This record gives sequence, structure tokens and C-alpha cells, in this order.
Amino acid sequence: MSLSGKVAIITGGSRGIGKSTAKIFAAEGASVVITAKNSERLQSSARELGVTGFAGDIRKGTDVETVVRKTLDKFGRLDILVNNAGIFPEVSPLHETSEEKWNEVIDINLTGQFRFAKAALPHMMKNGGGIVNVSSDAGLKSFENFEADAYSASKAALIHLTRTWAVEYARYKIRVNCVCPGIVETDMTEPFLRTEADRAMAISEHPIGRIGLPEDVAHAILYFVSERSSWITGAILPVDGGISTK
Ligand SMILES: NC(=O)c1ccc[n+]([C@@H]2O[C@H](COP(=O)([O-])OP(=O)(O)OC[C@H]3O[C@@H](n4cnc5c(N)ncnc54)[C@H](OP(=O)(O)O)[C@@H]3O)[C@@H](O)[C@H]2O)c1
Repeated sequence: MSLSGKVAIITGGSRGIGKSTAKIFAAEGASVVITAKNSERLQSSARELGVTGFAGDIRKGTDVETVVRKTLDKFGRLDILVNNAGIFPEVSPLHETSEEKWNEVIDINLTGQFRFAKAALPHMMKNGGGIVNVSSDAGLKSFENFEADAYSASKAALIHLTRTWAVEYARYKIRVNCVCPGIVETDMTEPFLRTEADRAMAISEHPIGRIGLPEDVAHAILYFVSERSSWITGAILPVDGGISTK
């Protein structure tokens, strides 16, 4: 699944799923740019992986444009965008959720993906390319006591935007696909996996009998940006040990 000659931006590439994706893309020969808010952590990951790090806050349009411009300045083209950055909010029932908290999640998990796609697309339209949106099982179905409505809404919207962008940009030879992870072991889920009982409960939710690893998702992302999936666009793929089938 060689990505030789391709230039990729991976948002949220400093940690977790994004970092694992950057590692795998680099091993496949891509020129990889990772971006995230915390510059120190980003540069440390970039050094470790031998990729480029351009810091920026996805909530700021000017930061997003700067990351894309710096990528173009350094590599001269852009072929791949992985819309992966995201946050999981402090959980609360909807009737106890402040509008401020709601807006913060939508700003990062949904409007942030709009900002990156908007900045990247004009450059990708020149040569064609691939976008992968990282949604969640929470965007596919409802889970009892999940209590993260803005998160679920942002992820459901990303699923629908995948289909919308796939249809709109196919004429430019840009394919747009989406992965929906179940519970993956990263900083985001660490607070929910601290005790043996929590972990056992999380494992038992997944028919395959284990929690996901970042590379489980990264390999699916790699498939969607490689030529092996050249006839696939608008696909929504659960990568979740079977949890969404229940
Ligand atoms: N882990 C799971 O179980 C799971 C399940 C389903 C879906 N997902 C989705 O998968 C994606 C990656 O999740 P993960 O578990 O790998 O998360 P993670 O380990 O918490 O990493 C999140 C990444 O997003 C970046 N980010 C957060 N806020 C940002 C902002 N304002 N501007 C720029 N970058 C920002 C972080 O950068 P900083 O280091 O600068 O904060 C970090 O690189 C997310 O979209 C998440 O919703 C995860």
C-alpha cells in the first residue's frame, strides 16, 4: 500500500490514533505533516517518528490555513488529509450541559474538520487525493448512559459530511471515507479504563473480545488513502471489534 510521493496532513497527529497513523504513513513512504495544539508534545512526536510537525489550534481558521500553507511551502503539494483531531468532553446529561461546553466540542470535532477540509481541498483538487474523517461508533448509534451528546452529534455530522464531500469532490478525483472506532486505548479513553473492572466492562462490550489499539484504526485509514481502495468513496467503516453490530 505504498504512499511514495504522497504528502499527507494528519490532524491530532501528536498522540493516539493520529500518531500511529503518521508512523504507518511514513513507513509507507509518504511525506507526513502532523499537527496539534500543544507544540512541545507535537515536536517531540515529530522527532520520534521522523516526520514534520506544524503546530496550530484547530479552533482558529488562521492557524489551520498556516499549517496548510507551510505544508505546501515545504513539500509543494498535498494529497491526503486525515481529519482526526478531537476531544471527548466531561460527560453530563444533556439537560445539565452548558452551551459553552456544547460549543467547544462542536468547534473542535466538527467545525475544525470543516476548517481543515476547506483549506486543503483547493490544493488537493489539482492532483486528486484522499480524505479520511475519523468519526466514532457514537456517531453511528446511541449508547445507554453515554452522556456526551455534543460528541455524538459532531461524529454523526462527520459521517454525513463524508458522504456529502464524497459526492461533491469525486469530479476532482478526491475520495472521502470515514472510520468509526469503538473503544481504543489512548489518552482519550484512559480515564475510563483505570480500574480492572472498567477495563473488563469495556472489553466485554466488544464481540471480538478486546479493546482497540491505535494501529487497528491506522491500518484502516491507510487502506482508504491507498490505491487499493481506488473504487471506494463515501464509505463509513466501523473499526470496533464488532461493537456497532450489537
Ligand atoms: N480513543 C477512542 O476510543 C476513540 C473512539 C472513537 C473515536 N475516536 C476519535 O479518534 C480521534 C483521535 O482520538 P485519540 O483517542 O487518538 O485522541 P487523543 O489521544 O486524545 O489525541 C487527540 C489529538 O487531537 C489533538 N487536538 C485536540 N484538541 C485540539 C485543538 N484544539 N487543536 C488542534 N489539535 C487538537 C490533540 O493535540 P494536543 O496534544 O495538542 O492536545 C491530539 O493530538 C478523535 O477524533 C476521537 O474522537 C477515538
